[in-house]
Amino acid sequence: MNRKEFLAQLGVSSLLFTAMQCTQSCTHKENMGQPINTDLYIDLSKPEYAVLKTPGSFIFIKEIIVAFTIHQTFIAASARCTHEGSLLAYYPSDILFCGKHGASFATDGTVLQGPAQVPLKMYKTQLSGSILRVFA
Ligand code: FES
Repeated sequence: MNRKEFLAQLGVSSLLFTAMQCTQSCTHKENMGQPINTDLYIDLSKPEYAVLKTPGSFIFIKEIIVAFTIHQTFIAASARCTHEGSLLAYYPSDILFCGKHGASFATDGTVLQGPAQVPLKMYKTQLSGSILRVFA
C-alpha cells in the first residue's frame, strides 16, 4: 500500500494532508520572533501553575515561556528559538537556552550565543496578588 492509498483509506486526500503539514509548519515559522497579540492572566494559586513558585522553573502557555528566575522575578518570552523554532528552556544560569543547536538568550531576549541571530520577542509581566499578567 502506498501513501496515497493509505491516506485514501483514512478518508484524507493527499492534498489535504500536505496542506495540513504546510499550515502547521508555515504558521510556526511565520510566528518565530514575531509579536503575538496576547494578554494572559495566570492564577498562580492553581495547582497547574504551582511550579512557578520555585526559582528557576518555567512553563509554556500558548507559545510563550514563562519563567520564575533565580532572581525571583517573572519573565515571559516567545517559547521558540529564533534560529529554527525549537522550544527553549530557562536555565538556572539565568539564560534561555535552545538545546537543538545551542543558542542562548539573555532574559531580556538578546542573543548571547548563536546560531540564532534574532532576539526573542519578550512580553511584559505584572504580578498582582496571585495573578500574573503576561502581555505585549
Ligand atoms: S533551533 Fe535553536 S539553535 Fe537552532
